Amino acid sequence: MGTRNIVWHDASVTRTERNKKNEHESFVLWFTGLSGSGKSTLANAVSRKLFEDNKQTYVLDGDNVRHGLNSDLGFSPEDRKENIRRIGETAKLFVDSGQIVSTAFISPYREDRQQVRDLLSEGEFIEVFVQCSLDTCEKRDPKGLYKKARNGEIPSFTGISSPYEEPEKPEVIVNTEEYTIEEAADLLISYLKGKHLL
Ligand code: ADX
Repeated sequence: MGTRNIVWHDASVTRTERNKKNEHESFVLWFTGLSGSGKSTLANAVSRKLFEDNKQTYVLDGDNVRHGLNSDLGFSPEDRKENIRRIGETAKLFVDSGQIVSTAFISPYREDRQQVRDLLSEGEFIEVFVQCSLDTCEKRDPKGLYKKARNGEIPSFTGISSPYEEPEKPEVIVNTEEYTIEEAADLLISYLKGKHLL
């Protein structure tokens, strides 16, 4: 796109100062997985624990963001790509503001997730694969969408008529068929403490 007479301004308050004041690092917990796998529930459970431990924390959630910022986007591969690109940029701003930001988007394409990883610095992108079989997601069907997808009422539905590319090397894998949300959230907190991020 080239230069467009836009000049980057340095902020008067730096991220380093914010992190120092907050007494913790800022980074992204990128939850990825099928619809119904438990991404949002887990992201919110982790965020609650962080908040109660006096951490700066915020959740960006697929269903919510698609009502506002990304209300112009659908579910074609191009739109999903743009969805994830915008979320990545947003998450980056949140990291700059000192937050531990949890994102809960299916983000089905490896390439799109990699793009977000590349946007952030080393160690700032923690990919959390919320593992759950399609069978179980479909049985849970919390929004009744799998049923609609099977009936042909929703085209290009992830797992049914649109692909989900599992992460090859996620930082964390949590299986929500094996663990309760509470246990899974505790596992993640332990992981972060082990990495000295908390
Ligand atoms: S993503 O693929 O672009 O990352 P995102 O997480 O924002 O998806 O939105 C997924 C949510 O949108 C699902 O949990 C579901 O509630 C809803 N949805 C509506 N249509 C579809 C579809 N065709 N495929 C997947 N999810 C859909």
